[in-house]
Amino acid sequence: MSEPVQTPQTFPTRIFSGIQPSGGLTLGNYLGALKRFVQKQDEGIETVYCLVDMHAITVWQDPARLRQQTREAAAGFIAAGIDPARSILFNQSQVTAHAELAWIFNCVARMGWMGRMTQWKDKTAGKNAEAASLGLFAYPALMAADILAYKATHVPVGEDQKQHLELTRDIAIKFNNDYGVNFFPITEPVIEGAGTRVMSLRDGTKKMSKSDPSDQSRINLTDDADTISKKFRKAKTDSEPLPSDLDGLKDRPDARNLVNVYAALADMTPEAVIADYAGAQFGTFKPALADLAVAKLSPITTKMSHLMQDPAEIDRILGEGADRANAIARPIVDEVYDIIGMIRSRHV
Ligand code: TYM
Repeated sequence: MSEPVQTPQTFPTRIFSGIQPSGGLTLGNYLGALKRFVQKQDEGIETVYCLVDMHAITVWQDPARLRQQTREAAAGFIAAGIDPARSILFNQSQVTAHAELAWIFNCVARMGWMGRMTQWKDKTAGKNAEAASLGLFAYPALMAADILAYKATHVPVGEDQKQHLELTRDIAIKFNNDYGVNFFPITEPVIEGAGTRVMSLRDGTKKMSKSDPSDQSRINLTDDADTISKKFRKAKTDSEPLPSDLDGLKDRPDARNLVNVYAALADMTPEAVIADYAGAQFGTFKPALADLAVAKLSPITTKMSHLMQDPAEIDRILGEGADRANAIARPIVDEVYDIIGMIRSRHV
């Protein structure tokens, strides 16, 4: 892939990020994304957050469940602290600029770039790639469209999205070069803090994921306090006490994961957690982690289920967010049509 070309940064700071409503939100989504979305909003930056329902259908979704999970994810965002008055919160399919720009990017991006995406390779590994949807292959071009339809300059994500964001930069660079413009910003990924790679509670070498067949491997934002506590107490660990420095966790992925999760939940560094718990057995550390997780997550869970009692209000919020999102994205995509030479006689 081409090296990013440094273009002068003339774009106002705008944050965009998205989450797929293809399953319940997990602790990984919360620590790697949602909690950090709230921080960016609270720093007073312009923030646009999207439930990417069009990405979700790259693998088949039951329509009723997709609707339910989209509302549940919206409730999760609001319960976690996203304020729809300060952030724009909407679902992707309500703003057609995403799909329109994605098609244009399908014509900018190269097959080879897509084929090198590790998520594509992982999802089709050992399976019949020919049977995967074309949408799954083109998925990163839609993601680039999500971001660039807003000329977003910064995208907070977990580590697993880094390669997709590099591709977004490549698409922006190629578009700018192909058409001789400085139209799209070269977006910066924002991957910071201890929670950007939360691992499975059953296997510290695997990412915590909503698609893992074992529910014990993850904390769902819909889990009640008792379930959260039990899952942490039963999390896989080794039999050694916690070491006195981070180096001592190098070959202990399960232990390292729990220390990182503690740090991310408590807004501490992993170093500070180790300093507090040096020499502690898991019999001490796990209950402390379980209590911390319950204290931080229970209010969110409770608020989420309260919000879910009024789905019409959630739909109203998403509709209002979509109108505000459209007001930004529409003129940007209209300008793209103009740049690439499409006649827009009904739009002048
Ligand atoms: P998705 O829906 O898989 O995950 C949403 C966000 O949660 C982060 N995340 C994690 N972070 C830490 N540890 C984990 N175990 C973990 N699991 C998930 C992800 O990194 C992500 O930030 N392609 C994206 C959605 C998307 C998007 C976008 C993101 C579509 N368009 C534009 C940013 C900008 C995805 O599938 O995320």
